[in-house]
This record gives sequence, C-alpha cells and structure tokens, in this order.
Amino acid sequence: MSVTVRVPAKVNVQLAVGAARPDGFHDLANVFLAVGLYDEVTVEAADSLSLTCTGPGGVAVPEVPLDRTNLAARAAIALAARHGLGDPKVRIHIAKDIPVAGGMAGGSADAAGALVACDALWGTHASREELLDICAELGSDVPFSLVGGAALGTGRGEQLEPLDVGGRFWWVFAVADGGLSTPAVYREFDRLSPEAPEPVASPALLEALRTGDVAALAATVTNDLQPAALSLFPSLKDTLDAGTAAGAAAALVSGSGPTTAFLAADEAAARRVADALAASGTCRAVRVAASPAPGATLL
Ligand code: C5P
Repeated sequence: MSVTVRVPAKVNVQLAVGAARPDGFHDLANVFLAVGLYDEVTVEAADSLSLTCTGPGGVAVPEVPLDRTNLAARAAIALAARHGLGDPKVRIHIAKDIPVAGGMAGGSADAAGALVACDALWGTHASREELLDICAELGSDVPFSLVGGAALGTGRGEQLEPLDVGGRFWWVFAVADGGLSTPAVYREFDRLSPEAPEPVASPALLEALRTGDVAALAATVTNDLQPAALSLFPSLKDTLDAGTAAGAAAALVSGSGPTTAFLAADEAAARRVADALAASGTCRAVRVAASPAPGATLL
C-alpha cells in the first residue's frame, strides 16, 4: 500500500522581521499565502528508511539531499519516535514541482507531506496539535505547509493564526539561476538592519486579503528580507524590474529568495508577465499559480 500527500508552495505577502533573538532566530510577522504549485510525497512500507526525489518530467533533482538530513526523512523519524516505532521502515518519494531552495518553502512542504503521509500509512492517528508540534520542531515554515490557505505566523513564524481570503490572487514566480541560503540572508539582514523594530502585521494588508482586493494587496506587500537578498544576489533587481515593466501589480522577493514573485491583476495579466519574464533573460524558469491553495492533502 502507498499513500500520497499533495503539499503547496507559499509566498510571503508580508515578511516583517525583528532583531535577532538570543536563540538566533528572528521574531516575525509573517503573512503566508499558499500558492497552487505542489510537491507530492508518496510513502510505502519498506525494510528501512530511504528517499528518492524527481523533478518535473521525472528528472533527478541534484540539489535535494537524499539522506536523513532531508526534512521529509526527519519528519518520518520524528513521528516514528513519538509513537515508539523505532527507526522508520518507509520508502519516501518526493515528486517535486516547487522550485528548490527558492524561498517558497519546498523543503517545508515535503516535511509536512511526509508527516501526514506516514501518519496515514502507519495508522498513528496523530492529532492536529501533535502534527503541528512536530512541524514546528522541524522548521519555522513547516506548520504553514500543513495548514495552507493564508495565515499570520508570529514567533519565529511557527505560531499560526488563520486568515480569511476573499478572492483569488494570481502570481508569477521567476526562478533564479542559483540559490540563496536562508541563514545567510538573515545574517545579511542583521548586518543591514541591526536596530530592526518589533515586527507587526499590516492591518491594510490583512484587509486587502480579506476583501480579495488585488490593487490593495499590491500596494501593501512588503518583505524585510528583500534588501538582504538583493545585497547577496544583486541581479535579482533586473528580474524585479523586468516583471514591473511587464505590468506586474507588485514585484517582490519571495521569502529569503532568490525566487521573485509578481502579483498580477488576473490570470491573463499573469500570463503576459510570465511571457515577458521568460523572454527577458533575467531568470531560469517562470511559473504561474493562483492563491490561496489548500494545505497538505491526502490524495
Ligand atoms: O526554522 P528554519 O530551520 O527553517 O530556519 C532556517 C534558518 O533561518 C534558521 O537557522 C535561522 O538562521 C533563520 N531564521 C531566523 N528567524 C526565523 C526563521 C528562520 O533567523 N524566524
């Protein structure tokens, strides 16, 4: 028997970052929006823990580690440990469609997917609370991958409050040629903003989400990590400019980058922006997706 779970990518429509905490993390006001780009995690019983990963078209994805450090493997190990199952005997396959190391929470999505899939495979019947607990142990963005939709994340981003979304938002994502390390981007943030104020969610942005107002959302999206990402990866500015010139309503770095996100007025506008970005030579690949999207879902 095998179990497959589909998990979405995310974009941060507001990422307000405070000063570094004593534990090295940063307090955030992190408005997550799940977008309709998905990884699928399939698990089945096996003699021991193993992991495989393929990208679109079944090709290998060399950037994804296939050992026990992979967040999906760590999720299986954590669930098995909590339920006295010892080392998990499971084969995990990730069919990856979310850009890797791009600031779209692909690794977090795989962790949430593996957790929900193993829970179903093993019949461990973990409560939602326990699943969220394990997610938070695995990474700051993992709880949101489980719940999807839209949510305000506080603390280091793991404490979630669901948000209402009153419409559909269309996005274009430009995948950069290269990656950015999240810790490195936060370190650069600390260098650039040593006196960062306490992060707070923008009431105007939450209202724009609630009413489904694209223009109002475009006017209020912000990412405090963007200057740090641009400092480490200056050519992202060319991608942002190309999307803006093509008529995007808003252009921003997605999370810690280097994927850039462009909000469009509607699907047709998104396709136009995507075509222009693809022709611009400023990125490696372009994807169009709508939001919000559901969280981890058993198929
Ligand atoms: O929680 P996660 O393991 O995904 O975080 C990766 C890294 O990102 C952390 O080690 C830390 O350097 C940085 N981070 C942070 N503050 C947060 C979330 C992540 O400094 N709220």
